[in-house]
This record gives sequence, structure tokens and C-alpha cells, in this order.
Amino acid sequence: MIAEAAPAKINLALHVTGRRADGYHLLDTLVAFADIGDRLNVEAAPTGAGITLEITGPFAKGLSGAGDNLVLAAAKALRAAAAEHGKLVPPVRLSLEKNLPVASGIGGGSADAAATLRALNRLWGLDFSLEALADLSAPLGADVPMCVVGRPLRATGIGTDLDPLAAFGGCDAVLVNPGVSVSTPAVFKALAKRENAGIGAVPDLSGRDALVAFIATCRNDLEATAATLAPAIADALRTVSGTGPLLTRMSGSGATVFGLYDSADAAARAAAAITSAHPEWWVAPTKLAPAD
Ligand code: C5P
Repeated sequence: MIAEAAPAKINLALHVTGRRADGYHLLDTLVAFADIGDRLNVEAAPTGAGITLEITGPFAKGLSGAGDNLVLAAAKALRAAAAEHGKLVPPVRLSLEKNLPVASGIGGGSADAAATLRALNRLWGLDFSLEALADLSAPLGADVPMCVVGRPLRATGIGTDLDPLAAFGGCDAVLVNPGVSVSTPAVFKALAKRENAGIGAVPDLSGRDALVAFIATCRNDLEATAATLAPAIADALRTVSGTGPLLTRMSGSGATVFGLYDSADAAARAAAAITSAHPEWWVAPTKLAPAD
């Protein structure tokens, strides 16, 4: 059996710089990955079993292990890519532990699809490079390739042109989801302004102070629109801001917001305060992983 982590993806900055003729938006985004996330187990299954998926964990409710699940789509896409290289792959049983809230701006389904590709690449002995996996994953969703790479990076185009950051020191953080799910297409559709400046030159982000100072000059261009569609986001942003973070922002198209803190203790204290004020919210202290 192979176990693969599917870390939460955090958009530290997300600038919307334009729109393509097909309706997809052009982005300039800085992405980091948390040390928490979903977990995927893959193991060989008996002949004739095909590809199966079971979903467990705190956010499994309402998800189906059949049909259009992105994990199954990823497994089938990799099986097809293997077949193109003349390799027939054996049946496999996938088991997903869903720890992240669904449709919440931190990658969930995309991270799961990415973990599926990495894990099956190993189980099936396919030897695709991470870059090849990222390329073949793009049709599954614009956020999947960045999750395949899974390290701090800048993404442009529709989010699939990836430029890993050489220097990124990591940071303590708290993720907060106020329990509303947000439709990504609805947020993009409701945007009033679609042509904003990009992030500009990214400096050395090895030190935490440099990281926070630079991120503070950036924005999430989806934040105001998402908070209008789902006012709980504004509430979550206010609540996190009230715990003394270095910076507060929404990730992706929401509804998860994050605070960055100057120590693991400060993040833990903030998480406890947010949970006691809003016991119904999902609150997760974490560390953004540094570039290795
Ligand atoms: O690629 P994915 O299926 O994750 O995208 C979901 C939806 O989000 C798209 O159908 C589109 O409406 C919107 N989107 C966008 N521009 C992007 C990424 C997503 O408009 N760069």
C-alpha cells in the first residue's frame, strides 16, 4: 500500500490579470502548501476489480466514491496516459481520508487528484516525472498541476504555468473556514474588474519578515466579491484579524481564510480563540512548508 499526502493549497496572493476568450481567467498567484490535508491510500486490487474509491474522514459526508469524483478521473487519466505508452496497469483500490472542507478555496479536490497521480505513478511503476504528471493533469482542473508539484510556486496563465520559488522560508498560519461553500465559477462571474496588475517581481522570500512584507503588497482579487456573495467570509476575515496576525487574507475563491503568525504558539493561541468564539467553524493551525 502507498500512502500519499494531499496538502491544503494556500493562495498567499491571487491577482486576476485578464480573461481568455473561452471565459477562463488569467491569474498571477503565489501558492504555498500546508502541513495538513487529505490522505490517500492506494493498493493493488484483485483482477477484474477496476478502479474503486472509498471516502472516509470528517468531510466525507455528501461525497461519492463513484461517478465524477476527481480522484477517479485522475486515476483514469493516468491509466490512459500509461496505455498510450504501451503499459496496461492493474486494478487498484483507492481510499481517501477527507480532512479538508469541500469547495473551500484550499485545493481539496485538486490536491486529492494530484495525490492520486503521484501515488499511482509509484504503485504502477510508471516513472512519469512530476512535470509530466502536472501536464497530463491540467484537463482535470486549473489547480491540479500546482498541487501535483506541491511546493511553493508562482502560477500564471490560467494557473497552470508553474514557476517554483527558489527561496521560500515558510510561516506559521491558521486556516479558518466559516462553513459556507462557495462556487468558484460564481465568484469569477461576479467580478466587477478583471484586468488588474500582476504580482510583479518576486523578491527572496527566505525570511518570514520578507515573506509577510511582500505578501502584504499583494491581494486576492476574488476576496471582496466572494465576501459579498458569502458574508460569512467577511466575518471570518474580521475574526482572524482580531487575533493579532501578521496578515489576514482569503485563499482561492473562498470561503477559507488564513492568518499568518510570528510563531507556532501565536498560531495555536489564535486558533483556540477563534474556535471558542465560533465552535462551528473549521479552524486549523498549520505551517506553510518551506521550499526544500
Ligand atoms: O479548472 P476548474 O474546473 O477548477 O475551474 C472551475 C471554474 O472556475 C471554471 O469553469 C471557471 O468558471 C473558473 N475559473 C476561471 N479561471 C481560472 C480557473 C477557474 O474562470 N483560471
